[in-house]
Amino acid sequence: MSSCARCGSTGRVDLLILNAGTGRFGDFLAQSEASLRETIAVNVLAPAVLARRLLPGMIARARRAGGRAGVIVVSSNTAFAPVPRLAAYAASKAFDLSLAEALAAELVAEPVDVLALCPTATRSRFAARAGWGGDIPGAQSPAHVAAAALRALGRQRTLVLGPVSGSLLALPAIARTAIAQGIALLLPRRQE
Ligand SMILES: NC(=O)c1ccc[n+]([C@@H]2O[C@H](COP(=O)([O-])OP(=O)(O)OC[C@H]3O[C@@H](n4cnc5c(N)ncnc54)[C@H](OP(=O)(O)O)[C@@H]3O)[C@@H](O)[C@H]2O)c1
Repeated sequence: MSSCARCGSTGRVDLLILNAGTGRFGDFLAQSEASLRETIAVNVLAPAVLARRLLPGMIARARRAGGRAGVIVVSSNTAFAPVPRLAAYAASKAFDLSLAEALAAELVAEPVDVLALCPTATRSRFAARAGWGGDIPGAQSPAHVAAAALRALGRQRTLVLGPVSGSLLALPAIARTAIAQGIALLLPRRQE
């Protein structure tokens, strides 16, 4: 059984939401090495390690119970293209998107649903923490993002949310899902 390093809880996880994220707005060369390391540790390393640690137990429990587990990887609209002034953050969110898409394809036969969640600007502490200043104009509500993600889990593999990007990125998202599934069928399975 896994235990939480922060609170010591040994409670089981059946729905894993890899949400923690951080980033700095500004020129890459003006970013401190410490903040770069934090962005990569929180946005890249933590979701990969948590998924690796928790998924085997989640899948085993779902199999035993005849139910399904769920994973939501919180990526971003910024995952779909390079973003100058948010270079490391956008690159880290591209990792999250790719990780979620690949896991969804690898685990297609398992009782677990994986969703890559890619919201546009959302009202939260993120913009202030990133050094943007106030809220990003037109930012959507976090309640809308959370409800849409829970509705999409098990129905689709990637959810892009945003008044413009929701339509603009829908097609690339579908293409990426199809490519991931195609590659999963082509590459042989290998257990270490
Ligand atoms: N807001 C947006 O415009 C937007 C758009 C697209 C995607 N996202 C993504 O949405 C997710 C949630 O962000 P948010 O908008 O809710 O921002 P937020 O209000 O700043 O929340 C960030 C979350 O990440 C955790 N976190 C940050 N740095 C951490 C660290 N060094 N160690 C451990 N935990 C850390 C925070 O925990 P503490 O509060 O305990 O520090 C908090 O739970 C992130 O993955 C973000 O990249 C946000």
